[in-house]
Amino acid sequence: MTSQNIYILGIESSCDDTAASVIFNGKILSNVVTSQKIHEDYGGVVPELASRAHQQNIVPAVHQALSLAHVKKEDLNAIAFTRGPGLMGSLLVGTSFAKSLAFGLNIPLIDVNHMQAHILAHFIDEPGFDKPQFPFLAMTISGGHTQIVKVNSYFDMVVIGETIDDAVGEAFDKSGKILGLGYPAGPEIDKRAQLGDPKAFKFTKPKVEGLNFSFSGLKTAILYFIQKQTKEDPDFIEKNLNDICASIQYTIIGILMDKLKLASKQTGIKHIAIGGGVSANSGIRKALKSGEAKFGWTTYIPKFEFTTDNAAMIAIVGYLKFLEGDFADQDIMASARLKI
Ligand code: KG4
Ligand code: ZN
Repeated sequence: MTSQNIYILGIESSCDDTAASVIFNGKILSNVVTSQKIHEDYGGVVPELASRAHQQNIVPAVHQALSLAHVKKEDLNAIAFTRGPGLMGSLLVGTSFAKSLAFGLNIPLIDVNHMQAHILAHFIDEPGFDKPQFPFLAMTISGGHTQIVKVNSYFDMVVIGETIDDAVGEAFDKSGKILGLGYPAGPEIDKRAQLGDPKAFKFTKPKVEGLNFSFSGLKTAILYFIQKQTKEDPDFIEKNLNDICASIQYTIIGILMDKLKLASKQTGIKHIAIGGGVSANSGIRKALKSGEAKFGWTTYIPKFEFTTDNAAMIAIVGYLKFLEGDFADQDIMASARLKI
C-alpha cells in the first residue's frame, strides 16, 4: 500500500445510469447515480435516448460527486472511466468526458472494464463488509450480465460461465412484462414471490452444458403457460399473481444455484461472491447464505449501492490500477464488447 494520498474520480456511463464517484485511498467519499427514468415508458433501455441523457447528466453528476466529497477537481490524481462493455453511444459520452478532463487537468487517465469493476466492488473499504479471499468465484447477475468468473487476483480473472442469450435480470423483467408488471419488474416479482407458493407452478429448467446459462427458453415457456391459462380463465394472472411470481423466482434461483454449485465443485473454490442488481433478490440471498451451512461456503454480497451500476466500482478499480501505474493513453477508444 502507499503512503500517498490519492484522490480518483470514477465515471460510469455504460448503460442507462450516469454515475460519478470520488475515492480517497480505497474509501468512497461520494457515489452519485443519475438514473434515467425515460426508459420505463419503453419497457427497456433505448440506446439513443440513453446516450442523450448521459450528455445531459454527466456534468451535473461529476459536479455533485466532487462537491459531496469536498474535493476540488485540481485535487484529483487521476480520472477512471468505463471503457466497456456496454452500449457504444453511452460509453462514448463517459469516455470523451474522462479524456477531456484528464487532459485539461494534466493527470493520468485510467480505463476500466465494467465487468471487472462489478467484481472489484467487493474491495471497497466499507465497515461490516468483508473483502473476499483469493481465489474466489464471482457471479455477476444483472439486467445486462450473467457471468461466473474465477478470480485469482485483482486483475487475473477467467470467465468460466456466462449466458448464451438473455441476462438473468432480463428473465425477471420480461416475465414481469408478460404479467403486466412495470419495468424493471425484478423488485416487484421478488416482493410478490415472498407472499406466494414457489411450487404452485412448475417451469422446466433449461439444459445447458457446463457452466453456461440460458434464459430465453424460460421466458417463452412462461409466455405459453400464461397464454394457455388466461384462455381458460381471463382472471388467471390476477388470481394467482403471487404464486406465479414465486414459481418464476424459484425456477430462476434454481438455475443460478445449480451452476454456482457446479462451479464450486469443479474448481474446489468455496469463497463465493455475487454482485449486480439481481443480487438484491431476497431468494438468491437466502439460497447463497444456505450454501454456507450446506457446502462450507464463505459468501460475499457488497453493499447495495455498490452492486447495481455505479461509479464507486469504477473508482476502486481506478485506485487499484493507479497503485500499479497502469494508465491509458489519450487515444484509447470505448469498446462495446470488451471482455474480461
Ligand atoms: O445492476 P443493475 O441495476 O443494472 C444493470 O442491468 O446493469 O440491475 C438491474 C436489474 C433489473 O433487471 C432488475 O429487474 C433486477 O436487476 N433487479 C432484481 C431485483 N432488484 C433489481 N431482480 C430480482 N429481484 C430483485 N429484488
Ligand atoms: Zn453492470
